[in-house]
Amino acid sequence: MGLPRRGRKHLIAMVGLPARGKTFTARKLRGYLSWLGYPTRTFNVGERRRDRLGPGQSAAFFDPDDREATAQREALTDDTLDQAFAWLRGEGRIAIFDATNGTRARRRRIQERCSRADVDLLFVELLENDSDVIDENVRDAKLSSPDYRGVPEAEAWSDFRARIAHYERVYAPLSEEDGSFIRLASRGRTITSHEVRGWISARIASFLTNLQVTKRPVWITRHGESLYNCQGRIGGDAPLSDRGRVFARSLADHVNAHAHELVDLDVWTSTLRRTIDTAIPMGLVPGQWRALDEIDSGVCDGMTYAEIARRMPEEFEARQNDKLRYRYPKGESYEDVIQRLDRVIVELERYRTPVLVVGHRAVLRALYAYFLQLPTAEIPHLEMPLHTVIQLAPTAYGCLEERVALPPLPSPAADGSGPPAPA
Ligand code: SIN
Repeated sequence: MGLPRRGRKHLIAMVGLPARGKTFTARKLRGYLSWLGYPTRTFNVGERRRDRLGPGQSAAFFDPDDREATAQREALTDDTLDQAFAWLRGEGRIAIFDATNGTRARRRRIQERCSRADVDLLFVELLENDSDVIDENVRDAKLSSPDYRGVPEAEAWSDFRARIAHYERVYAPLSEEDGSFIRLASRGRTITSHEVRGWISARIASFLTNLQVTKRPVWITRHGESLYNCQGRIGGDAPLSDRGRVFARSLADHVNAHAHELVDLDVWTSTLRRTIDTAIPMGLVPGQWRALDEIDSGVCDGMTYAEIARRMPEEFEARQNDKLRYRYPKGESYEDVIQRLDRVIVELERYRTPVLVVGHRAVLRALYAYFLQLPTAEIPHLEMPLHTVIQLAPTAYGCLEERVALPPLPSPAADGSGPPAPA
């Protein structure tokens, strides 16, 4: 179930007036596609402008009647596209072109370049007319932008509104002649797609359809210590140890103490008893997901790492050399785990209420890396201790993390690595 390493190249071109959430969406999409294993980067024309000209262009710079400024803006656009195509000619698989792209002429240029380079093009348009949503986007992202550093807030608001008005005068929404596109209107409540084909475009459509701009927390924790943890064994379906059961009660107390932040909390577990038994003292009926089950260690299920090193030294070494791609015989790799967690991520993005995931080490490493947008190569090495709750609070431009260790301390053998392997 590993990922194909080669395949067609893709350009995703964002479309929309300023302050419609394009950069937020592009950033989320980059995180998701990179996490799935596709080398993905964003290319942002506003950043290029600030790099080239320095920040602080006033609204006049965006006036479509100002020929000189328009030529400068088009040159910056072409420049940014050059960067995107250079990335796609090399190691890149997906480039996200983050700009307004609001005129047909601009989009024709993008289409021509994609067809010359044999790159698949998908436009993603964000339409929004609700002034409260637009104002919130301006407040969250634009007023703090380097363009308005040191500018009094009222002046920045009025300049940014004038900038939007300039773009509105020439804006043409997507139509069939734009080819493949996905349009999200009114914060994604209305979705239109046109000629969306292929696996990657379908993943993008499913992700964007479910993406919410909500700031509700996601909490993740491993199950309480299990009897297998105490013996340093991997896999299996062992019950909790005494310490593990105490942790389950500590977790329930911790959740109760935070009830005001966790109104309408949903608890998700795997189908393995150590996660379900950890959730029981909370008194909520957990949603059980097979997709949240621990990495399948195949023929090594139930063994300690020391036993694997002794009985299957080639397997042990292969795993040490590439923990991300290594697949246990008759089992899974971390990459396989990421693929099956895709549906969990899409559901987590869809939920508007807090979710607590009681899971397993490999699975939580992968979920954590998604929210923190960490490189997939780091996933197998992330710290994910027992008896620790990680609170993830998404913000408009990132995710804040807080770790809380709850009693009791797990037993020394249960740190997840098992007894040391023989030399
Ligand atoms: C910008 O310069 O901030 C955006 C340019 C564009 O996308 O039109």
